[in-house]
Amino acid sequence: MERPSRVWLVFTMLLSFPLCSFALDKLNMCMDAKHHKIEPGPEGELYLQCAPWRENACCTANTSTEAHEDNSYLYNFNWNHCGIMSEKCKQHFIQDTCFYECSPHLGPWIQPADNTWRRERILDVPLCLEDCDSWYNDCKNDITCKENWHKGWNWTSGTNRCPAGAKCEKWTDIFPTAQSMCEKIWSNSYKYTTYTKDSGRCMQMWFTGQNPNRKVAEFYLNHGSRTEVAMMTSLTLSLAVLLSML
Ligand SMILES: *[C@@H]1O[C@H](CO)[C@@H](O)[C@H](O)[C@H]1NC(C)=O
Ligand SMILES: *[C@@H]1O[C@H](CO)[C@@H](O)[C@H](O)[C@H]1NC(C)=O
Repeated sequence: MERPSRVWLVFTMLLSFPLCSFALDKLNMCMDAKHHKIEPGPEGELYLQCAPWRENACCTANTSTEAHEDNSYLYNFNWNHCGIMSEKCKQHFIQDTCFYECSPHLGPWIQPADNTWRRERILDVPLCLEDCDSWYNDCKNDITCKENWHKGWNWTSGTNRCPAGAKCEKWTDIFPTAQSMCEKIWSNSYKYTTYTKDSGRCMQMWFTGQNPNRKVAEFYLNHGSRTEVAMMTSLTLSLAVLLSML
């Protein structure tokens, strides 16, 4: 009687182990997209605004350099689709590219994507108030013709042009608020929050020193999937109890 029950206990523990390590991986992983590395790791040569991710990154040095270029080979994206984008505005789009390409802590918000050019995307990443507000403030005197910059461009020239019928307008006419910009511009990749950088409840696009976002991802992983974790634990426990009674 004793021996088989122990065997089964060990068996159920072994079963639950991969489930736990799967959750751990979500704290340090790269999404399956166009330019991301397979696994995060050190990248000593990351360029300028992408340098904060040098210790652990999903982007290569090449991607980090290209992130700073207009019409770079990354996406052929033209920031200057309604005249030249101001430097102070563009620096936020460069930082956004570094954050998207380099961050190894976006696991809790990675979703399957229905794009031809990537298998996964991010959805509703809670952005710190300061990062969204400063982005909006530095761009609010710029001009654009579209609310969603992921879709609907005219690409016939090889780069994105405003489609017929989309007029260049004041930034604030297209995006009345910081929230509308941060959420709509990349199809809800980001979620506007009123959490500040010291809260530990929002992701920081701009940071120096140790990457503060791992702890934030950990928080959302533990709280967001609380029911899942509870279900797994109780399932494993009841299985163990059941089998030990055999
Ligand atoms: C990055 O790699 C691409 C493709 O291999 C290449 O065309 C481009 O010149 C490289 N950029 C830099 C900055 O090295
Ligand atoms: C796209 O732009 C080209 C010119 O570059 C134009 O001839 C064409 O009509 C445009 N298509 C749409 C759908 O706006």
